Amino acid sequence: MTPPPDKSITHRALMLAAVAQGDSLVANPLATGDCLSTRACLAALGAATAEEAAGADKPARWRISGRGLRGLAEPAGVLDAQNSGTTIRLLSGLLAGLPLYAVITGDGSLRSRPMLRVVEPLRAMGARIEGRAGGRLPPLTLLPGGGSLAPLSYELPVASAQVKSALLLAALRAEGECSLGGELGSRDHTERLFSFLGIPLRREQDRLLCAPPASVPAFELRVPGDPSSAAFFLAAAMISGRELEVEGCGLNPTRLGFVEVLRRMGASIEAVLQESQGGEPVGRLLLHPAALRGTEVSAAEIPSLVDEVPLLAVLGAFARGRTVVRGAEELKHKESDRLQAAIRLLSAVGGRVERFADGFALEGPQSLTTGLIDSGGDHRIAMAAAVLASGIPDGVKVQGFEAAMVSFPDFLGIFRALGGRVE
Ligand code: S3P
Repeated sequence: MTPPPDKSITHRALMLAAVAQGDSLVANPLATGDCLSTRACLAALGAATAEEAAGADKPARWRISGRGLRGLAEPAGVLDAQNSGTTIRLLSGLLAGLPLYAVITGDGSLRSRPMLRVVEPLRAMGARIEGRAGGRLPPLTLLPGGGSLAPLSYELPVASAQVKSALLLAALRAEGECSLGGELGSRDHTERLFSFLGIPLRREQDRLLCAPPASVPAFELRVPGDPSSAAFFLAAAMISGRELEVEGCGLNPTRLGFVEVLRRMGASIEAVLQESQGGEPVGRLLLHPAALRGTEVSAAEIPSLVDEVPLLAVLGAFARGRTVVRGAEELKHKESDRLQAAIRLLSAVGGRVERFADGFALEGPQSLTTGLIDSGGDHRIAMAAAVLASGIPDGVKVQGFEAAMVSFPDFLGIFRALGGRVE
């Protein structure tokens, strides 16, 4: 299978293209859900996207007209990030301190997600940002500034790539070098894109230092496949004892924690590096299945598999022995409370899971029966339910499966092509 284009990289490529000098070309963008929210917000700010359809053997391309670092225009209406945390947080950094008034909102799920983690450091740079509950919740309002921000020295309290990226985007318009420390171990796509574009960024011991560039050059890149989407099929292949080859997949080590854990659970997985695209390693994953065994996942590993935690609960139910996940409290702040949702997923089919404040534990293999699972509007829960179904003879019913569109538009097509049954 070939996974859909990487969601995180598509967001970042669009945001950087919007503030570049001239037109940029992003090939193979993720053209659904969250990334369309980013695209629409940027168009409302004057950085429109023109689409070139995919051809026989060439991927679709988006041409984005860049407005320069200080050239985005005041939007005439409210910016709607819909379900996308990446859109609202990164956009806050991209727009902070610009001479424009902007309101960013989202759907019911997004309007309950924490924003102070970006609002506070951006305020420390001099940006005027308001929001509900003192800036804790969206909608967020950005008030006009002078175009530049004060340099920031900041310790990240949570390992969040959205927070780190929002601050790096704001750092592009700082009046001097910004210095980030603390929890920097999250996915590093923004850092890689900065380096690819020649934006001065360096790692010194345990700090990330970014000096403002005079401008951001227009660029061309091709978005690799999303390893977090591939993860669903790697998990399903393990559960159903099938070999699987994943092509065109991003192999960035900050995204491959799940592959490491699958190996500990018994899988043999070869990662074959084939090329580099926009500073990202890309290649093939080959999975040879084996009987699943339980494992322990520690807090240090969570940032590299943060979106795959619900799948660990699913795999644990089919694994011999105990599977334990700790240090995953951030999951409570995703599109849904994903710790709760992961546990409900298994309870719905007769599974038993012990819940901790920061994770869960389960003994396997468990005897599971068919049941009804509600995605709660969360794409990753909908797809984790389909993976669970691949190990239950009568399958499961999923309510709200359409949420999967947010990151994986052709999930069911691939699921069927690989032998899954969908009615
Ligand atoms: C993302 C970062 C992660 C991840 C989300 C996408 C990104 O969130 O869960 O799906 O593109 O930066 P956090 O930054 O909140 O950990």
